[in-house]
Amino acid sequence: MMPKTTISVMKADVGSFPGHSRTHPKLLEKAARLLRDQEGNLLIDSFVTHCGDDIELIMTHTHGVDNEKVHKLAWDVFMECTAVAKSMKLYGAGQDMLADAFSGNVKGMGAGVAEMEFEERASDPVLVFMADKTQPGAWNFFLYKIFADPFNTAGLVIDPSLHKGFVFEVHDLIEKRMILFSCPEDLYRLLAYIGAPSRYVIKHVFRREGEIAASTSTQRLVLVAGRYIGKDDPVMIVRAHSGFPAVGEVLEPFCTPVLVAGWMRGSHNGPIMPVGVCDANCTRFDGPPRVTCLGFQLCNGELIGPADMFDDPAFDRVRGRCNELADMIRAHGPFEPHRLSPDEMEYTTLLAAEKELTSRWTPIPE
Ligand code: F6R
Ligand code: MG
Ligand code: MG
Repeated sequence: MMPKTTISVMKADVGSFPGHSRTHPKLLEKAARLLRDQEGNLLIDSFVTHCGDDIELIMTHTHGVDNEKVHKLAWDVFMECTAVAKSMKLYGAGQDMLADAFSGNVKGMGAGVAEMEFEERASDPVLVFMADKTQPGAWNFFLYKIFADPFNTAGLVIDPSLHKGFVFEVHDLIEKRMILFSCPEDLYRLLAYIGAPSRYVIKHVFRREGEIAASTSTQRLVLVAGRYIGKDDPVMIVRAHSGFPAVGEVLEPFCTPVLVAGWMRGSHNGPIMPVGVCDANCTRFDGPPRVTCLGFQLCNGELIGPADMFDDPAFDRVRGRCNELADMIRAHGPFEPHRLSPDEMEYTTLLAAEKELTSRWTPIPE
């Protein structure tokens, strides 16, 4: 029997140029070389890319999720890239590395992590999504559309292998608790929570039989570090076809321009724009938020690909609509709903600015 394949996607912002707009090719080269050195040893295969200012490590192996050696490898790669970033005085060098030494799992230490382990099917298409200038809950809308909305996913209606629906594992990032929702019967209950994506985040999606369909990163740096130090630009892995939605059904919801939190200073809502990797550089007002998708076929752990899925004129219209939305919401300047609500701003530098005014506030006369 073939061993199960694990796919691990880990990301961190360890320095970028200019400002927070994009990673430097030297960091990507360094990371790619370090992972390649482990192919045939700890790893089966690897691919390194970026989305905006984040380095994205895509790795396959047979060691399961949360494997200490694989996490340590990612930690070492991010540390070595930090050193390169510092040597070039890149902006925010090492910003996501919250500790000085590795302590077992890179998740609580600043990096974003999505992993899944499964027995490879006869043919196993896998899509890896990466976003910049947003937060983990940004995937909620898309995962709902992919796995629960028959108006998006035709297979839910016409493919008997999808008729039973899917199970959503939702994490409450504040109370640190989780819950399973089985859809379609729990559809409204699921929406009641995931419509508040800064707190409730879809971590995994499963088939009823338990087979993993999707996995996301749910780390929020503010909750780890206790203060705003950067955005938790998330990653996501989705399997497609033969009991899962088709590749095209997984991509379809990205044709809707959706507003997400995380633009400029992690403090603004803005449209998340699907782009090819060559356009995954955040410029206007440090954005607008971007999402990329690389598609692979797995072959005994080997990553056949990538295909740059949003590098396609079929997504030109949503990009145009995102730009229109960006104009509209930017016109709000410092006003909500462009700026996040006060409770979501809780961890940003606004709080520090507010402290200076404490003594100037006086009670309103009766
Ligand atoms: C970083 C980000 C940026 C920064 C902004 C201010 O990922 O989203 O919008 O928050 O450029 O950067 P600092 O605080 O480093 O001056
Ligand atoms: Mg940055
Ligand atoms: Mg980033």
